[in-house]
Amino acid sequence: MEDFEPVIVAFCCHYCAYTAADMAGSMRIAYPPNIKIIRVPCTGKVDAIHIMKAFQMGADGVYVAGCLEGDCHFKNGNTKAARRVNYVKKILDDIGIGGERLEMITMSAGMGDFFAQTAIDFTEKIRALGPNPVKRVSVAEDGNLAIKEGI
Ligand code: FES
Repeated sequence: MEDFEPVIVAFCCHYCAYTAADMAGSMRIAYPPNIKIIRVPCTGKVDAIHIMKAFQMGADGVYVAGCLEGDCHFKNGNTKAARRVNYVKKILDDIGIGGERLEMITMSAGMGDFFAQTAIDFTEKIRALGPNPVKRVSVAEDGNLAIKEGI
């Protein structure tokens, strides 16, 4: 488990978190390369299926990063996203992946340092949780599910 490098998908709103990531880069504030950013026009655009698909494809953790409360450019996309995230967290608990692998985070475009610290903290949290359990399951030739060894 020591060598485990988590893959983290961050759905970032174009107007805040994505710009904050940009700012972190231009301020030369380092954050882990584990974070795979997907830019979205607003977190309200991130649906439960997008989050579930990320986990299905092997993400060890996912966060949705949107504008601060009251600052969403599409009025309430971030509050809708927060509701969806809470809903998906329950599903992840129910199916054994674990709701703690998913978070909703808010920030402003100027918070480059916060973006980097969030990326660091979330990476360490997921590293401590270990790999996404979905990675340990494969479909055998006979169609049955099998547990992979060594993951
Ligand atoms: Fe940023 Fe809606 S525009 S969360």
